[in-house]
Amino acid sequence: EKGGYEHFMLKEIFEQPKSIQDTMRGRLLVDEGIIKMAGIWDHLEKFSNAGRIIIIACGTSWHAGLIGEYLIEEFARIPVEVEYASEFRYRNPIITEKDVVIAISQSGETADTMAALKLAKEKGAFIYGICNVVDSSIARITDAGSYTHAGPEIGVASTKAFTAQLTILSLIAIKLGKHNGTLSNVKFVELITELDAIPKKIEEVLESTHDKVKEISKDFINAQNFLYLGRGYNYPSALEGALKLKEISYIHAEGYPAAEMKHGPIALIDENMPIVIIAPKRGHYDKIVSNVQEIKARKGKIIAVVNKGDVQVSAIADYVIEIPDTSECFSPIVAAIPLQLLSYYIAVYRGANVDQPRNLAKSVTVE
Ligand code: F6R
Repeated sequence: EKGGYEHFMLKEIFEQPKSIQDTMRGRLLVDEGIIKMAGIWDHLEKFSNAGRIIIIACGTSWHAGLIGEYLIEEFARIPVEVEYASEFRYRNPIITEKDVVIAISQSGETADTMAALKLAKEKGAFIYGICNVVDSSIARITDAGSYTHAGPEIGVASTKAFTAQLTILSLIAIKLGKHNGTLSNVKFVELITELDAIPKKIEEVLESTHDKVKEISKDFINAQNFLYLGRGYNYPSALEGALKLKEISYIHAEGYPAAEMKHGPIALIDENMPIVIIAPKRGHYDKIVSNVQEIKARKGKIIAVVNKGDVQVSAIADYVIEIPDTSECFSPIVAAIPLQLLSYYIAVYRGANVDQPRNLAKSVTVE
């Protein structure tokens, strides 16, 4: 059942070329130049006329939501807010019939997400689900939705469901952008061509980073803390990298937007602080180079996730993990892989039960 892997988590990490492909199958039709998604197509007016889109979720799915915000705002130019379901449901939020509320949930059973959706529905919003488990409670109460086709995720730490969520959000943002006329045809073709190449790049990154990340992990089994930093699309990648490490290795970790360092967290940096920097060359590379220099000056141990052929960050970092280049908006999908492997191996070397971390449940059906 674990297909020869030691844990479900590792199996699921390695399944990602396929789970992403499965999520795009029948939807991304590159040769015809179309994205087919019935859930969006049938309710296009709801989306086009939406005053804003509110994304609600918890945990890893909330991190996917943050990336969804960047995607939808960049390509479809619709304002997006992302909220923790648990906060949204109790703060008497302002919701109108013009709002579209998207819930993201692997299990489709998360109590807070379900309650937040019910509230939004009562207030007249159009509610949309992005779930992995078919016919789950959230999938059933939503007006429409798109399933991620990641297949069953057994490991408690979400891996392939996360990248499948990012795939769906990319498809939705690009499709809406095309429909709204906020995305040029040239850019549309460029994006779908690149998205189509992602499964291949995930295969590549699994192959090229696995052994290296495993080696690096050994140096950090006694770490007490970790910082994860990224900017733009990879700021949520930093949050997700930190969450993954916390939940399975029990090492305290925090994710931050790299520029927030100087507003406080930089005080934590000394030679005992490992810092994972996600710095692909597209996006805000120059800015991140200066952040890396500031960290180095304070002797932090830098583990950098960079693109192949990177020079500037690699010259400063203590450890370098190279990933293939892609469009900035898809870089969180590729960058997720070495971050998942890093937490996996650190946890394994610490002797932790990675598939069933203490205190955690796969489906959080109580608030
Ligand atoms: C982290 C993790 C959790 C879930 C969260 C939401 O690896 O698995 O943070 O992402 O409990 O669960 P779903 O997506 O099922 O609503």
